Amino acid sequence: MELSGKIVLVRVDFNVPMDGGTIMDDARIKVPVATVKELKNRGAKVVLMSHMGKTSDQAEAPSLRQLIPVIEKIYGNSVLFIEDYLGENARSLIEKAPHDDLVFFENLRFHPQEESCDLDFSRKLASLGDFFVNEAFSVSHRKHASVFGIPQFLPSDLGENFKKEIKNIERFFNHSSGKRMAIIGGSKLSTKIKLLKRLVTKVDKLALGGGIAGAFLSYFKNDISGIFEFGEYEADVKEIVENAKKFGCELIVPTDFSALISTKSDHAIMRSEDSNTTVFDIGPDSVKLLEDHILTSDMVLWNGPVGLFERSPFEFGTKTIAEFIAERTQNHHLISIIGGGDTGFAMKKFGVADKMTCISTAGGAFLNYVENEDCPALEAIRISHNKFGEL
Ligand code: 3PG
Repeated sequence: MELSGKIVLVRVDFNVPMDGGTIMDDARIKVPVATVKELKNRGAKVVLMSHMGKTSDQAEAPSLRQLIPVIEKIYGNSVLFIEDYLGENARSLIEKAPHDDLVFFENLRFHPQEESCDLDFSRKLASLGDFFVNEAFSVSHRKHASVFGIPQFLPSDLGENFKKEIKNIERFFNHSSGKRMAIIGGSKLSTKIKLLKRLVTKVDKLALGGGIAGAFLSYFKNDISGIFEFGEYEADVKEIVENAKKFGCELIVPTDFSALISTKSDHAIMRSEDSNTTVFDIGPDSVKLLEDHILTSDMVLWNGPVGLFERSPFEFGTKTIAEFIAERTQNHHLISIIGGGDTGFAMKKFGVADKMTCISTAGGAFLNYVENEDCPALEAIRISHNKFGEL
């Protein structure tokens, strides 16, 4: 479509981690750069819309104003910040903005209608532009006005990064030849049950780390001192183990661990039969086991660190595996897809983020898509395509 002189609303996710007024990781601000440049090259005026802060924090949602200097630096454009985009003259402010400026709205979550996907609010936002582009895969699991509502009223499309994120996940599941391995870590089993249930029916190998592995160790009765508990998930673990047999998926659980033996961060390597220990990482034998399995895999999907990587010496497992996967990827032996906030942060910490095939900037949305390919944002774009055609 002809975009010259038109206003394109771009949903971005600038929900970046902040420490006081300092941005801890600007990766999400960089995500839409290519899409914004393309729209500008096609003559469009670009309006960026984002949220910041958790769903429950509406009253305390932070102002996006604090991001302006960083946006101007990354994009090389001046920012025209509009606080009152629901006000009467918002559209004319946008129209009058110099073409080179980036228009940037205040936090969408200042308005509860954003999260309730209010129809009038969606219509009002849509009236501020001529087209809509969603470049916020990391919010694609939310049925919010700026994600799900706007495309009902405007010709819309996905941004380049959004498409890439989906393509990479689909590539993993639809890879017809070669071995697929998933590594799932993290501390809370409750957040990964659905994911494990899907993966076990789809992959050749499923390796478990972090607290998640503990529930499976308990199931196999080689728990360490009862640290790991099924809680209410015993039946789920049983189902996953049974489905692993049924679908020919090899379950890989750690065989040794790194445990804290004093408050001075001394550590010891423990076997699974040892007791009275506080485990924070997998041990060297388990790392070697994972490496052997990675060696015979063609694709790896990794979500969740295998240990407490933020605290030395318990970064060992996550770091060693990250470096091994990065090297295999760089040598073209492996396709590596990394998802989840903590896992992505760990890759950056260990200097391997640029060496993986793909690091998702999404947390919940990545899990959601891998779990069930449910994606309200995508559904909304399809509705828009049917109504208005493609951008
Ligand atoms: C995220 O940080 O995962 C996204 O920005 C979505 O944020 P939310 O979980 O607050 O909706």
